Amino acid sequence: MSKFTFDPTIYNKSKNKPMSSVLEAEISRRSVLKRTAMVTAFAALAGTGLTACRSDDNTGSSSSGATNSEDPLTLGFESIPGAKLDAIVVPAGYTATVLAPWGTPLNDAADAWKNDGSNTSVDQLNAMGMHHDGMHFFPIGDGVDEGVLCINHEYISTSALHSSAPVTTDNERREKARKEINAHGVSVVHIKLVNDTWDVVAGSNLNRRFTSATEMDIAGPIADSDLDFLVTRYTVEQGNKKIARGTNNNCGNGHTPWGTYLTCEENWPGYFVRTDNRSQWTAEQRRMGISNRGNRYGWHTLPDDSITGEFSRFNITPSGTDANDDFRNEANGHGYIVEIDPYNPASRAVKRTALGRFRHEDCSFGNVEAGKPVVFYSGHDGRFEYIYKFVSKALWNPADADPSDRLATGAKYMNEGTLYVARFSQGGEGSWLALTPESVTEDNRRLGDVDGFGTLAEILLNAPGAADLMGATPMDRPEWTAVDPKNGAVYVTLTNNTRRDDDDSDSDNDTNVANPRANNRFGHIIRWTERSDATTFDWEFFLFGSPANGDAEINLSGLNSTNELASPDGLVFDKRGILWVQTDNGADEVEDNTNDQMLAVIPTQLNQAEGNSPVINEGNQDQLKRFFVGPNDCEVTGLAFNADNTTFFVNIQHPGNWPYSSNAAEATPQGVSVRPRAATVVIRREDGGEIGL
Ligand code: FEO
Ligand code: CA
Ligand code: CA
Repeated sequence: MSKFTFDPTIYNKSKNKPMSSVLEAEISRRSVLKRTAMVTAFAALAGTGLTACRSDDNTGSSSSGATNSEDPLTLGFESIPGAKLDAIVVPAGYTATVLAPWGTPLNDAADAWKNDGSNTSVDQLNAMGMHHDGMHFFPIGDGVDEGVLCINHEYISTSALHSSAPVTTDNERREKARKEINAHGVSVVHIKLVNDTWDVVAGSNLNRRFTSATEMDIAGPIADSDLDFLVTRYTVEQGNKKIARGTNNNCGNGHTPWGTYLTCEENWPGYFVRTDNRSQWTAEQRRMGISNRGNRYGWHTLPDDSITGEFSRFNITPSGTDANDDFRNEANGHGYIVEIDPYNPASRAVKRTALGRFRHEDCSFGNVEAGKPVVFYSGHDGRFEYIYKFVSKALWNPADADPSDRLATGAKYMNEGTLYVARFSQGGEGSWLALTPESVTEDNRRLGDVDGFGTLAEILLNAPGAADLMGATPMDRPEWTAVDPKNGAVYVTLTNNTRRDDDDSDSDNDTNVANPRANNRFGHIIRWTERSDATTFDWEFFLFGSPANGDAEINLSGLNSTNELASPDGLVFDKRGILWVQTDNGADEVEDNTNDQMLAVIPTQLNQAEGNSPVINEGNQDQLKRFFVGPNDCEVTGLAFNADNTTFFVNIQHPGNWPYSSNAAEATPQGVSVRPRAATVVIRREDGGEIGL
């Protein structure tokens, strides 16, 4: 997400202060009890040691016994300086090339991308979308030189998307809106390495697009509910109430142990508008932050001319006699984790409602074990919002790693289970609070007896509202989650929160144990390990963002000019156990020195935290290294790997004046303006070796 599109409104009015009495538990005053708990929990992690693993296992199925006779990994590159260029910067010995930028045709129905913005909506429907974000590589064959990339397109820049031709008629306005709708969503793109260059396999039958208009299936408790949350004029017309149209604001991503892609609907409420008096709205609509000002791009203002509610569906104000007659329920089909089978071009996307409805940033699965549930983690990106996990009812069967029907396997593990929300406590302990009708709220009511939460479907539809009642911990904008393939530790980026305060004379927005910095401009990363009971965990601070010249109260991780960072956002482990941290920074103190970036660290190579320090501290600065710097004005987000880690794919979103050529490291010359294009950057080593080592 860009700082330009983030909705800063605080929708969490619950004033949850689960640990209001323990504010002194900021890291400078953390208790011995906390240290003891953490050291116990993480000692097991350190003991395994991280070894060079060349496994092709993409199921993440490794929870113990990682030690073998191979040498431990070390990062084999020098941390690069910060940069402020219209170019990519990577370490010496690496190359960076542009792959599949916005507008790249996926099939013959699209004209070549035109530099004047004059491509049509049909071109856009058959070409790469805009503003690349989360991404995953699905192998074909051994996955070394061929695969399928699934790439999210979070939002658009209308100035880059369109030509400057005047738009005067309704037909022209509709065409423009259709192009915008088609530039959103997900691209599935078949790629191949030929003569040392990765390129799109144009015309492959695997290539396809999902947009803000693509009809999708919707499954799980909300779809199954007899309360008909999804009924609209369109579903009546289609004779199927388990469908939704389009996916919006696809930010981070996930994938599954059975080989499907997960795309995550983040700031979707801004695509809908309700114009009547807010007193008429449901509690869920207010809590989610549906807009009363208008769709971000004005789509709802256009008169429909053909497909039912093509544009008017974005206005969810009741206008008919009931839900069969209008689009009051249209937004209920949004806010989910959406599953896509990248290998089956005939398959439809499926929205998985059991994982809850909120502004999903991303979705990561915990390392799987035979006979145990499959677990997914997902953060809600908003100020003072929460971290969730879903635990499947079905138990993992390793035979499902390569199923004949991937979406049926998705239904098995993702349609039934329990959604939990996190509460962080003093002493490094945490608990998962189940969101079910039987749960007991903080004020000792049965959740199912509270108005608006009578059924599981209602709870999932307004998961943040249910989490408020349970006493979840309000966080500093949870972004990506990542699970260490070597030991199952879970990491989350908390990107920033400038509304966090340390004025506890009121009950609003106060710091808490897991979010200890008031005016948190630079963000932090925490991690936890699950205990065996699945409802408790042990957590600690991993890293605090800061400018290198931040004072002792700010630069808690002791960062220097080689690794200063702010607003950690994208967060991905490769299967070797290297953690890659991407930034979406808006803080001048760091931005003055470097554009957004990607850094690497191997958590299991670090000593455990000592005393009151986060894991990354003054004593281990050489372990957090800057690997990649993006071009001016961009965000670095999304990371994928080919099967042997000789190629990394990194996404550049909303660059200002880039790319100049297919060489991503070639700077746009002074005085030259290019039409900016979000793109995937392919990173390889000149000697063909593994990235990062
Ligand atoms: Fe789309 Fe929260 O980043
Ligand atoms: Ca993001
Ligand atoms: Ca306060």
